[in-house]
Amino acid sequence: MLWATSPACTELETHVMDWLVDMLGLPDKFLSNHSGGGVIQDSASNASLCALLAGRERATSYSSNEHGCDARLVAYTSNQAHSSIEKAVKIAGIGRENLRLVDVDEGFAMQADHLAQLIEADRQTGRIPCFVAATVGTTSSNGIDPLPEIGEICRKNNLWLHIDGAMAGTAGLCPEYRWIHNGLEMADSYCFNPHKWMFTNFDCDCFYVADRRAFIQTLSILPEYLRNKPTESGAVIDYRDWQIPLGRRFRSLKLWFVIRHYGVEGLRHHVRRHIELAQQFANWVEQDKRFELAVPPPLNLVCFRHCGGDELNQQLMDRLNQSGDLYLTHTRMHDRLTLRFCVGQTNTEFRHVERAWQRIKDIAEELQSSA
Ligand SMILES: Cc1ncc(COP(=O)(O)O)c(C=O)c1O
Repeated sequence: MLWATSPACTELETHVMDWLVDMLGLPDKFLSNHSGGGVIQDSASNASLCALLAGRERATSYSSNEHGCDARLVAYTSNQAHSSIEKAVKIAGIGRENLRLVDVDEGFAMQADHLAQLIEADRQTGRIPCFVAATVGTTSSNGIDPLPEIGEICRKNNLWLHIDGAMAGTAGLCPEYRWIHNGLEMADSYCFNPHKWMFTNFDCDCFYVADRRAFIQTLSILPEYLRNKPTESGAVIDYRDWQIPLGRRFRSLKLWFVIRHYGVEGLRHHVRRHIELAQQFANWVEQDKRFELAVPPPLNLVCFRHCGGDELNQQLMDRLNQSGDLYLTHTRMHDRLTLRFCVGQTNTEFRHVERAWQRIKDIAEELQSSA
């Protein structure tokens, strides 16, 4: 819970989180020897909640913690953001009605000009904009929000900008995919989940803040029974001030093992291969006139559908998932049922993806001929 209760737990976490800044080419401000630092959270949901609390406090000069929430506070995210943002807004006392859902473009990325309009309209009516959550790789379709434009708007309006890179962030391991993080230098906080796409067992979310003082001021609390000399010296990190619970697990150990086992080049190799396999799958879909892509896949998630309509796609997914051979999830895009095929597991190889595509085609054919 404190540095004093397990110095190794704290020190290794700081060390591994700093490694990851270099490995993903993240801005230096997220390093522990700069203004910010990283902490391992259990989930992206909790990371977003902590970021929102910090944004709320910064916008109200830390008074919401003292007196309760100002009902004029407003937060913003795109209509494609993960549901955890809405949940965070409810928990943080902002209220769901005060979460503005920004429109997206044809690639399902946030429209920055709409964000600017919403903020302006709120300011005009005396509201207090405090927080924007942008996404790198939305859950539904892997949409990538335009961080440079969003960052400028947040900077101009002094809003806390949190970037949720839950799954897609891992692609930043490879220099050729670091464009997904363009604009991150303007973020106040960022997270990605090694438990999604970096071979690490659940749970493990890497969360970074640019200004640790503002962040700690939000969550820090020091009852008498936690007082100790190392904390009072100011020379150590107490991660209980960087999260909601007090006690914590030694999560950096498994991350350390993963990084040591694969090495940076090994991790890159797998990420590249996963993206390659997903793109190969997308090519097959594109070339088959019975199927279509719902959106061009930027990374390792392919959103596609059979052209035979929602009912056929539902049956196709149910049959595939019941078979136990592969597992697809679904979403709705442009109000049409859309199947989601994601490559991200340690042992997935070309032959698995090839067989999956064959199974998808076979079952679709069976369904069509029995219709
Ligand atoms: C973009 C995004 N954010 C957040 C989450 C939630 O992740 P967690 O389970 O770590 O809270 C997901 C999970 O699907 C996600 O895709």
